[in-house]
Amino acid sequence: MYVLGIESTCDETAAAIVEDGRKVISNVIATSVKEQALYGGVVPEIASRRHAEYISATVDKALADADMTMADVGAVAVTFAPGLIGAVLVGVNFAKGLAYAAGKPLVPVHHLRGHIAANYLTHPALHPPFLCLVASGGHSHIVLVEDWCRYKVLGRTVDDAAGEAYDKVARTLGLSYPGGPSVAAAAKGGNPHAYKLPVPHVEGKYNVSFSGLKTAVINEVHNAQQKGEEINVSDMAASFQERIDQILAKKLLSAAADTGAQTICLAGGVAANGRLRQLVNDGAQKLGAKIYLPELKYCGDNGAMIAAQGYYEYRDGNLAGWDLNGLPTLPIDYR
Ligand code: KG4
Ligand code: ZN
Repeated sequence: MYVLGIESTCDETAAAIVEDGRKVISNVIATSVKEQALYGGVVPEIASRRHAEYISATVDKALADADMTMADVGAVAVTFAPGLIGAVLVGVNFAKGLAYAAGKPLVPVHHLRGHIAANYLTHPALHPPFLCLVASGGHSHIVLVEDWCRYKVLGRTVDDAAGEAYDKVARTLGLSYPGGPSVAAAAKGGNPHAYKLPVPHVEGKYNVSFSGLKTAVINEVHNAQQKGEEINVSDMAASFQERIDQILAKKLLSAAADTGAQTICLAGGVAANGRLRQLVNDGAQKLGAKIYLPELKYCGDNGAMIAAQGYYEYRDGNLAGWDLNGLPTLPIDYR
């Protein structure tokens, strides 16, 4: 079955056609990231307006690239939560109108479930159960994926998300938005041991906390400025990346060891981070667990991951009515 997936929770307006949750037929992404970069982060109002402008052409192109019409599509899947609400509602309403007009089922998809499903696009052998670290701009979760649509959250951030910490540190260091890729680029050639950054203490064995780490970077930068000294941006980027990635990898791998997980995955925008991929890959090998990483092009927000999860939600009978609403927050294990 071909599922059309629509995503609009942040600054990407995206649509894709995926066959049976696995095979990407088309994948189109329009983004307002360049405009958002002028402000150093996502301005929700701008994101919503750009979605409204881009969404028709984006969905049309996803169909055209697949050489399909709505008659070929079995279901319309759309991200309905969590996200910037004005942005989410553009995708939800568009998907509703389209599905209604074409007489197709409407499938509601949770954004983080979609990020996890990005792994299905690349790894045909991957199936639940597996353990996954989902790290994006808004969330950092260690999740046991018990079944296609059943999740158990083992740990989460108690304050900032990993991507958010990357973005804020980038801003402090004068690097461009989005912060993750700029910090990773600046970290190349930097000394990861140059700055001694703290390991935050947090309650809960698999929980993480990044606000203290972020503040430590901000304090180092301010102290240096007050003394008239220069921060070595490359060294600081490398030190921060090493510290945050070590924390994420360590928590994920300890959860894997404790639960006896045979299979480990990464998901979300931060899953594109090369050092994190390396640390998790090495750790999984040591544990003797299989490791699956999403392709870089499917780590950030896209429609293909929504279509992939949409297929499994559809199979489980999780359909929406014409009164589907968007939600700014919703736990991944909602029922
Ligand atoms: O999943 P995503 O595209 O959107 C959300 O659902 O939030 O994640 C975006 C986040 C941003 O904070 C961005 O800085 C971060 O992922 N990110 C990275 C990298 N690429 C994107 N963080 C670290 N290293 C990267 N290479
Ligand atoms: Zn995302």
